[in-house]
Amino acid sequence: MRAAFASRFDDTDPLAALTVGDRPEPVHPDDDWVTVQVTASSLNHHDLWSLRGVGLRADQLPMILGCDAAGVDPDGNEVVVYPVVVTPGDPRGVSILSEHFPGTLAERVAVPRSNLLPLPAGLTPADAACLPTAWLTAWRMLTTKGRVAEADAVLVQGAGGGVATAAVALAVAMGKRVYATSRDAAKRERIAALGATALEPGARLPERVDVVVETVGAATFDHSLKSAAPMARIVVSGATSGHEPAVNLRRVFAMQLEILGTSMGTPAELTELLAFCAERGLRPVVDSVVPFSRVTEAFTRLHSGDVFGKVVVDHTA
Ligand SMILES: NC(=O)c1ccc[n+]([C@@H]2O[C@H](COP(=O)([O-])OP(=O)(O)OC[C@H]3O[C@@H](n4cnc5c(N)ncnc54)[C@H](OP(=O)(O)O)[C@@H]3O)[C@@H](O)[C@H]2O)c1
Repeated sequence: MRAAFASRFDDTDPLAALTVGDRPEPVHPDDDWVTVQVTASSLNHHDLWSLRGVGLRADQLPMILGCDAAGVDPDGNEVVVYPVVVTPGDPRGVSILSEHFPGTLAERVAVPRSNLLPLPAGLTPADAACLPTAWLTAWRMLTTKGRVAEADAVLVQGAGGGVATAAVALAVAMGKRVYATSRDAAKRERIAALGATALEPGARLPERVDVVVETVGAATFDHSLKSAAPMARIVVSGATSGHEPAVNLRRVFAMQLEILGTSMGTPAELTELLAFCAERGLRPVVDSVVPFSRVTEAFTRLHSGDVFGKVVVDHTA
């Protein structure tokens, strides 16, 4: 079957490590696994980290990339794939598709049957394929970790990214005052169109916020601390610009801030997110839809950093 996979690692030029070609059909590590025919997937920064060799070992190559998918199960049902799989031997106890088990950027992917959720009415496979990684991460950052129900104002850093646009759209839909930073003027205009107040990175906010959604890391972390109200939650799920920022601990304890790490979300949280999107008519922010036959262009686009929202891959084209 055709697939997009990491055939080697390249830290400086991750696109050079990407191969599109034939891979064997999925195998089932256990009896409760099923094969899903993928109809749509979406890219994440995670796929670029994999091509760089972050989170993968050379003896795991070649590895089919992709965490997100919507597709059709063996009984003909339209499904959304929950990408976190129990993985004995991994220090986290779990892994995300494309870390230990082959990913979704293929004609077919194998997963435990319990990882399949029904595609809600009103969501297209392309919409649904945006939700299981970036949107689920943003949902958990806001709800379970950030306790956004208690919050009035939210700051989202690096708002062009997949997690960040999700956080902006979700927090706006929840009725919060949302501030979002982006380095790019055109992206700031699009953030404003989503209902947030768009700012340049590092700009002073009109008020301190109760929740910060942080995926950028070193480049924005000090601003996140300075923008936080007393007792605020700074929720971290990524560090695209560097993972070792200087942290002003005086500010952390004086303002009684909580810095919370998080990864992905639970199946129950994905079910809540799917229901929230379906009920509110909220649709993911889609940067572009690229046919699988041109999947390399999708990677090039994500790598350029010039994206606003999710890059979707249409596996039917
Ligand atoms: N832990 C988890 O479960 C989980 C899940 C999903 C993602 N992540 C992580 O979260 C991060 C974002 O993922 P994504 O897929 O949303 O990535 P993405 O779509 O590639 O977005 C990255 C965004 O970060 C901002 N950025 C990058 N470099 C920057 C810099 N030097 N200074 C300021 N801003 C910068 C950019 O925002 P502007 O261009 O708008 O400034 C860019 O749009 C990644 O590190 C990813 O690994 C973690």
